[in-house]
This record gives sequence, C-alpha cells and structure tokens, in this order.
Amino acid sequence: MISRFEIKNNDFIQSYYDYRKQELKKHELKALFFEVTSRCNARCEHCGSSCGDFVPKDEITKEEIWGVLDDIAAHYDPRKIMLFITGGEPLVKKDLFEIMDYANKLGFLWGMTTNGILIDEKVVEKMVETNMKTISVSIDGLEELHESFRKTPGAFKKIIKGLKLMQNCPSIVDIQVTTCVNKKNIGQLEQILELVKDIGIKDWRLIEIDPIGRAAQNSDLLLDSKDFKRMFEFMFKTRVENPDMKIMYGCGHYFGVDVNTALNGGVFSCFTGYWVASILSNGDIFGCPDIPRLPELIEGNIRTDSFVDVWENKFKRYRRINRTSNKKCKACPDWKLCLGDAFHTWDFKKRKPNFCVRELFSEEIAENTKKKEEPIIETKEKKETKADTKKKKTTKTATKNKTTNKKKKWYN
Ligand SMILES: C[S@@+](CC[C@H](N)C(=O)[O-])C[C@H]1O[C@@H](n2cnc3c(N)ncnc32)[C@H](O)[C@@H]1O
Ligand code: SF4
Ligand code: SF4
Repeated sequence: MISRFEIKNNDFIQSYYDYRKQELKKHELKALFFEVTSRCNARCEHCGSSCGDFVPKDEITKEEIWGVLDDIAAHYDPRKIMLFITGGEPLVKKDLFEIMDYANKLGFLWGMTTNGILIDEKVVEKMVETNMKTISVSIDGLEELHESFRKTPGAFKKIIKGLKLMQNCPSIVDIQVTTCVNKKNIGQLEQILELVKDIGIKDWRLIEIDPIGRAAQNSDLLLDSKDFKRMFEFMFKTRVENPDMKIMYGCGHYFGVDVNTALNGGVFSCFTGYWVASILSNGDIFGCPDIPRLPELIEGNIRTDSFVDVWENKFKRYRRINRTSNKKCKACPDWKLCLGDAFHTWDFKKRKPNFCVRELFSEEIAENTKKKEEPIIETKEKKETKADTKKKKTTKTATKNKTTNKKKKWYN
C-alpha cells in the first residue's frame, strides 16, 4: 500500500515529519472550538457527545466566555484565530449572538456547526450583524431518514429553508453541508448530493461516523472497510463530475498519502493540542471536542485557570512527536506520516489507535505486498515502460492484471 510510496519518497516523509515536530513545539493556536452548550433539540442516534441525554447544571455563561476571549485577545492576534462554535446545538443558547458580537468586536473570525433546525429570518439577521463567516449544517439523509436518524420530526424542511435564507447573507463566505456517513445513509449519498446541489450549496463535507458517544452503543451504524472504499470511490467520482463544488472528507483519518492527497490535497494530520483546543460546555479546557472525555485529559477549566496560561504550559501530552507512539505504530512503515492517526479514536488507556488504516485494509495490503505491484504515483516514462511490458504478456495475465487494477482504484 502506502509503504511503496514511502520508500520512493523518503525526503518528503522526513521533511514532513520534521515540519510536524517543529509545529508541535511552536504550538500556535489557530482554532478554538467553543462548545457553548451540551443541550440539544435533537437526539441523533450517532451523537458523539450523547447530547440531550441530561440537563447540564454547569454550562458556561456569556460573561465567562467573554472573559476567555479577552484573555486570548490580550496575548495573541485574534484575527489569526478561528472560533468554531459548536455544541450540543449552539442555537439553543439564548445569548449566543451577544457572545459572538463581543468576539467579532475583538477581531475574532467565527463560524458555527449546527443542526440547522432553528435558523430563520431573525437568526440570519443576527448572523449578519455579528459577522459570522462560515457555517456547517448537518444533513444525514433525505427527509425521512434524516428525521428518523436525528429524532427530529418536521425538521428537514426548516433546515432546507434556513440554508436557502443564508445564501443571501453577505457576511458568510462559506455555507457547508456536512453528512456523517454511516451504514444507514451510505446508500443515499448520490441523492444527498443532488439535494445539496438543488439548494445551491457548493461545499459538501463528508465525515465518517466514529465509535464515540451514542455511536459506540449503536455499533451497527459503523462503517466497515467495504463501506470506506465505497465512500471514497463515490467521492472521487463525484469530484470529477462536479468540478465547481468543494467536496471534502474529514477531519477524519490517515488513509495514506495517495488517498489523503486525492481527498483533501495533503496528508492527514491530527492538529489537537498544538493548533487546536476546545472549551467544553462546563468550562473544561480540552483538546479537540471529539476526543474521549476522560477526566485525566482535562487541561484546566476557564473558571479557575487562565486559558492562555493553560495553552502555553499544559497540553504537553500532545506536543511530542512520539505522542501516539506504541510498539506497533513505531514499527509500522507508515509511522512517520500517520503518527498513530487521530486522537479522537486513540485509546488513551491502552495507548493504541482504535482506528488503523493498515488494520482496516490488511487483506489488500497483504495482497498488494505479495504482488509487488508498481506504485500509484508513477512517472510518465515508467507508465510507458509498464505499458510496453504489459503488451508482451499473455491474454491470461492481462486479464488478471485488469482485475487487480480495478481493485486498486483508490487504495492500492
Ligand atoms: C457535535 S455536532 C454539533 C453541531 C450540531 N448539533 C450538529 O449536529 O450539526 C457537530 C458534528 O459532529 C457530527 N457527529 C456527531 N456524532 C458523531 C460521531 N459519532 N462521529 C462522527 N461525527 C459525529 C455531527 O453529525 C455534526 O456534523
Ligand atoms: S449530533 Fe448535533 S444535533 Fe445531533 S444530538 Fe448531537 S449535538 Fe444534537
Ligand atoms: S495507526 Fe499506527 S499501525 Fe496503524 S497505520 Fe498508523 S502508525 Fe501504522
């Protein structure tokens, strides 16, 4: 699989590894996720934060959030930090736009992820007033599936209306639809794309369901290796057919240089703890909000600590190049690029990744290693030589190769 690319591009691998090392050390805050609430008006089957199952007593207040923003703006350039407002459902927080007005006046850029149910004319007006730049709205299926999956009867039409309203909103530079791909909706991707296009949205992000929160209990929703292949093949095809659209995958996982580059233009990296932090709805200062919420991973709390102080002096576990090392990963041919994959699927107790591309595609990797095929990224001359050699082969061998090539469409 990727190992053959690695062998031929050792310079790239080493310089990428060195770059990561340097960035880990620098730890320049670029994105701050603000989980402004864990309350929610939906009860999605997959919710990674199990939102809506309990009423939180200790939700961070407007004043507390303002305090953190002041602290950050006093030490760093707020124009270089993107605030991603998330939840729970951010729009259930009644003073959300007062908070965002303050952030905007301090110079922060901000965007929001939302289930979209509460977007109406008044909300769009507030988005404009507070200079919201980006928004990502979840659509996980066509009307019936979306509403049953998210346990929100009657929500779908409101979401579509909201998406249309925002298209006339001058401050927003990017309106995105996010689909969390799972066993139930993988067969609807084509139709969801048509829907997204019909609404006039040009940015569609697919993420895969991760085994966290309620999704860990509903394991029949999780994708297997065949589903991953299906999703990526669909994305590759769709991107060629829709060049005017941005169709992205992720945050996600390390899938190897060729797949990650084809999907998002670069190798996957988990930015947790050196570019990205979050503040959870109870004020806890944390890595990315999708990381398992273990008490030992809490870096501080905005009620007792200065965020800047915590950012500068804690988060140590994320800032070593060996941060996700274990015996297996260190011996892996993909180690220097993958670095143990993403923290949102890292098992902190067992110190091992719960998601591993080499495990997921172990059969293909073994098969490909055995066959010692040529790499996917080839020079023109090599392609020609390969074609010449092929011509000389018997029809039987040619047919065999055709089958193999068909199989290695995306994963090689
Ligand atoms: C936590 S939600 C918060 C914003 C809003 N409530 C929503 O659903 O869009 C942000 C995104 O995380 C996704 N998400 C939730 N649970 C997930 C899981 N188990 N795996 C992957 N993504 C998940 C949602 O589908 C949504 O696109
Ligand atoms: S995924 Fe979003 S909308 Fe669904 S329950 Fe979780 S926070 Fe609410
Ligand atoms: S998670 Fe570890 S073993 Fe798996 S591909 Fe990444 S470095 Fe290799």
